[in-house]
Amino acid sequence: MNKGSLFKELFTNIKTTGAITFSSKPLVNKMLSFADFSGAKIIVEMGGGDGSITHGILQRMDEDATLLVFEISENFCENLKKRFATKNVEIICDSAENLDKYLDGRKADLILSSLPFSLIPQPSRNLIYQKSSECLRPDGSFIQICYSYLLKFQFSSYFKEIRTTFTFRNFPPVFIMVCNV
Ligand SMILES: C[S@@+](CC[C@H](N)C(=O)[O-])C[C@H]1O[C@@H](n2cnc3c(N)ncnc32)[C@H](O)[C@@H]1O
Repeated sequence: MNKGSLFKELFTNIKTTGAITFSSKPLVNKMLSFADFSGAKIIVEMGGGDGSITHGILQRMDEDATLLVFEISENFCENLKKRFATKNVEIICDSAENLDKYLDGRKADLILSSLPFSLIPQPSRNLIYQKSSECLRPDGSFIQICYSYLLKFQFSSYFKEIRTTFTFRNFPPVFIMVCNV
């Protein structure tokens, strides 16, 4: 998919993508600076989209680590599969609420999410929060980028510690929330 088709997919599905543009490189760098990739073997990305965060993760993760990318748009999935055709990347065309099924008993070291939670129906949203906290290793991190600070209050029912930062180096500016169980 070229840039134009990626944006067309983003706008056509605005109710599920929840974004007017993809994450900027400075945002990806800042988000991933909070993730400890050393020794991380199972990494999950929620909401692969155009692959801007996926690319950043692949540049940082260990060679023997596995990355599971959840994405519900079939077009984005097809594109991600072509772009990241390596054996340690699994593109999963399914909702992140089925995380546990694909982890199959394994625990994640890192969960990196750009899901538009304010647009995801509450039962699914709560399931994603619950499964993310349950599937995370005790020393792992769940890192979310989001437009609304209010998300912190939803996260607080599932995560013990939440650190929040903000960056203007994206349009629109976003919060980055780093959550630990
Ligand atoms: C805001 S876009 C982020 C895209 C890209 N990662 C970025 O940072 O620019 C959110 C993505 O999450 C996907 N998405 C929405 N709900 C989802 C769900 N329940 N499970 C997996 N992916 C979902 C959308 O299709 C969209 O590609």
